Amino acid sequence: MKNIVILNSSEIATPIGNTAKFGSQMNNLKVIKNGAVVIKNGIIEDVCTTEEVLKKYNLDEFEVIDAHNKCILPGFVDSHTHFIFGGYRPEEFFMRLNGASYMDIMRKKGGIQNTVNATRKSSFGELYKVGYERLNSMLQFGITTVEGKSGYGLDLDTEIRQLEVMKKLNEEHYVDIASTFLGAHAVPLEYEGRNEEYIDFIIDKVLPVVKEKELAEFCDVFCEDDVISIELSEKLLSKAKEMGFRAKIHADEIVSLGGAELAGKLKAVSADHLLCASDPGIKSLYENKVVATLLPSTAFCLNKPYANARKMIDSGCSVALASDFNPGSCFTNSVPLMFALACIHMSMTAEEAITAFTLNGAAALNRADRVGSIEKGKAADLVILKYPDFKYLVYNTGVNIVDIVIKNGKVVK
Ligand code: NIG
Ligand code: FE
Repeated sequence: MKNIVILNSSEIATPIGNTAKFGSQMNNLKVIKNGAVVIKNGIIEDVCTTEEVLKKYNLDEFEVIDAHNKCILPGFVDSHTHFIFGGYRPEEFFMRLNGASYMDIMRKKGGIQNTVNATRKSSFGELYKVGYERLNSMLQFGITTVEGKSGYGLDLDTEIRQLEVMKKLNEEHYVDIASTFLGAHAVPLEYEGRNEEYIDFIIDKVLPVVKEKELAEFCDVFCEDDVISIELSEKLLSKAKEMGFRAKIHADEIVSLGGAELAGKLKAVSADHLLCASDPGIKSLYENKVVATLLPSTAFCLNKPYANARKMIDSGCSVALASDFNPGSCFTNSVPLMFALACIHMSMTAEEAITAFTLNGAAALNRADRVGSIEKGKAADLVILKYPDFKYLVYNTGVNIVDIVIKNGKVVK
């Protein structure tokens, strides 16, 4: 692989550091005008001005990319998706447009159970193929690291199949995948009314296999009224932590249940959704350094009030943004849509939104030391925009303006 140098960038814009950014720190991007990036063996070797690079390096040794009039950002980190699934649920989308709620549909055995039925019937090869195509689409939007959850099997075989598909995709596709075990995404039909027995089954029969086969780093739960209670969420995540998983929680999405408080108590790596998080819940997140992962496209698709990003950031939280791409509540992986919603409807600044979808997303995946910013020693995961300034990401509303994507030092778009 030839080493790369990128020259003449109108600006490089990046958060700085190896850990999550909290509160007002989220608004600080380092901006280098007429910037250059030197990449060696897939790793960032130098980040400085073009004049400095021309003095220090012999360009003959490099493949040169001219980024004149183009802004360079860190590769995007989408830290919450459910991208491995069988089938689709368009009928539910239109039922919601006609007044049914997400939970109405779920209580009638549609929703997640619907996708569970289709995913159980899908072979490894079928899931691999759709997964591969979805990763290609993410790459076009500049996503270089993505999290993927299981949770459409809710039985041993299918949960493991979903995770094994992600493991193979991680080996064979450019996009890096962080895997999360979400066996507690819902209580499947065959365990109806026996929620605790189902959680015990997950703890005794599924988690140990996931651990032994090293198929996931994180354990997540859909902690929600009529799904998995606070008590059972705590039981599962405590056990998972003992086994060496980091905890994540789908918290306070539909009602204010205390999921954010539980995330703090368990020192989860992230609490996600948080549309209805309480003030003590928000306090618990920042006091315990839990990343608050907000999913504006889900609120948009469900037509619900957005999470209170301003309150969270202004009170000192670390906020990440993610797509929540899934076949039910949010069948879109559109990064431009997510940025537009975050800045127009959640009053985040463009700087905060970029930090949230790069370094803080990386922190929510335990990878802030490796990706999420443009700094010497980090993986050369970069996005080059068609425009000179990072603010175009929001201003050019809903349009994909990603021109070039570099993953581990290789041009992949
Ligand atoms: O994060 N809220 C729970 N889980 C997913 C949706 C899953 C589905 O509807 O298929 C979410 O929005
Ligand atoms: Fe989710």
